[in-house]
Amino acid sequence: MSKPFLSVERLSQTFPDGAGGTLTVFENASFGIEKGEFVCILGHSGCGKSTIMNVLAGLAEPSAGVVKMDGVAVSGPSLDRGVVFQNYSLLPWLSALKNVTFGVKARYRDWSREKVVEHATQYLAMVGLEGDVIHRKPSQLSGGMRQRVSIARAFANQPKLLLLDEPFGALDALTRGTIQEELLKIWSQTEQTVFMITHDIDEAILLADRILLMTNGPFARIAESVEITIPRPRRRTEIVEHPNYYAIRNHLVQFLGKRSKELAGRASGGESQSPESVRIDLTAPTDDPEPAPQKPVLHAVNG
Ligand SMILES: Nc1ncnc2c1ncn2[C@@H]1O[C@H](COP(=O)(O)OP(=O)(O)OP(=O)(O)O)[C@@H](O)[C@H]1O
Ligand SMILES: [Mg+2]
Repeated sequence: MSKPFLSVERLSQTFPDGAGGTLTVFENASFGIEKGEFVCILGHSGCGKSTIMNVLAGLAEPSAGVVKMDGVAVSGPSLDRGVVFQNYSLLPWLSALKNVTFGVKARYRDWSREKVVEHATQYLAMVGLEGDVIHRKPSQLSGGMRQRVSIARAFANQPKLLLLDEPFGALDALTRGTIQEELLKIWSQTEQTVFMITHDIDEAILLADRILLMTNGPFARIAESVEITIPRPRRRTEIVEHPNYYAIRNHLVQFLGKRSKELAGRASGGESQSPESVRIDLTAPTDDPEPAPQKPVLHAVNG
C-alpha cells in the first residue's frame, strides 16, 4: 500500500515533569491521514492533543519519531501547513482584510495588490464577512467574527494541511453551528486536508471522515480510528436522523467515559502504536437472516 499524504511514524514526546522526573506524553504513536481527508481527534484534557498538533505544524520538535508530509520530513513551520489556534491570534493593529492579505502576500509573492485583495475578500465572503465589516480591526469585531477571520486567513493561504486546535471552543452554540457549516462548505470546495482537535462529540461527527480517539495520559495512545459512516453533504439537523448517528455517538461516549481511562498509562514496550480501525454501519447488509436492527455492526480492521 502507498504511504498516506501525512504519515506520523513512531512519534514520542517527553517533557521534564517539574519534579526532577520525566513525563511521557505519548510514545511510538503512528498514524496516517490521506489527502483531502477531514480528521478530528477527541481525547480528555491534558492527554497530548495540542502537543501532537504542534509537532505536525513544525512548531515543536518531538523527542523521537518523524512526521512526513508528501514523503518529506516536517521540520520547522511552513506556509504549507496552516494553523488556527484556539485564541485566534489575529494581528490587532490590522483590519480583518489586512489580517488575511498579510499571509496571502507572503505566500504568492508575484501576485499584484489587486489580486491579493480580491483573493482575500473572496475567502472572507466564504465565511460570511462582507462589506464594511472587513475593514474593522479585531477589537471592533465580535468573537465569532474574529474566529471567521482566522479561518478565512488559514484557508486563503491554501496550505496543503490545515491544523485546527479547538477553533470553536470559545463560541456560543448558535455561532458555532453556523461556522461549522461554513467550514464544511469551504473544505468541500477546496479539497484541503484538515486535522482538527475538538472536545465536542457532535461537532466531530458532523465534520469528520474519521475520528481518532486518544486515551488519557501519561503514555497516551491513539487507540482507535472511527470511520464516520454518514454520507455527505451533512447538515446538523439531518444527520441525527441517520441510523448510524447514535450508534457512532454511543461508541465515542463509551470510549471517552470508560475505555480512555482503562487503556491509559501503559508503556508501548518499544512497539509502534497504531490505532485500530472501527467501522460502525447499521445500514450494511449482514449474513444474519434476521439482523437485530439496534445492534451496531463492528468491523475491527487492523490499522
Ligand atoms: N512545554 C511543556 N513542558 C512540560 N509539559 C508540557 C509542555 N507542553 C505540554 N505539557 C504537558 O503535556 C501534557 C499534554 O498537554 P497538551 O497541551 O498536549 O494537552 P491537550 O490534550 O491539548 O489538552 P487540552 O484538551 O486541555 O488542550 C500535559 O500534561 C501538559 O502539562
Ligand atoms: Mg490542547
